[in-house]
Amino acid sequence: MTARERRLGPAGRAETFHFHFDGREIPARPGETVGAARLAADIRFLRRAEDGGPRGLFCGIGVCWECRCVIDGRPNTRACTIEAKPGMTVRRQEGLA
Ligand code: FES
Repeated sequence: MTARERRLGPAGRAETFHFHFDGREIPARPGETVGAARLAADIRFLRRAEDGGPRGLFCGIGVCWECRCVIDGRPNTRACTIEAKPGMTVRRQEGLA
């Protein structure tokens, strides 16, 4: 059972939509942030830091900026503060972009 299945249960699956992350379709629920949806999809590597190291969600409340990525062409967008929308395109960010 995946983290998503544990969280949503069978009834929750009907309410999901998808957005795109680096060419992969990621399921999300209405009101869920991009960061939370990626975490539920077991994607923990969200960006590459300036020193080359992998980064992911840390605070989850918009303070640390560790989750920044490119959302619909806008770099340095914090995934933990942006609500996922159907068809949204998200890319892993490399460095400061
Ligand atoms: S996880 Fe800290 S700002 Fe997004």
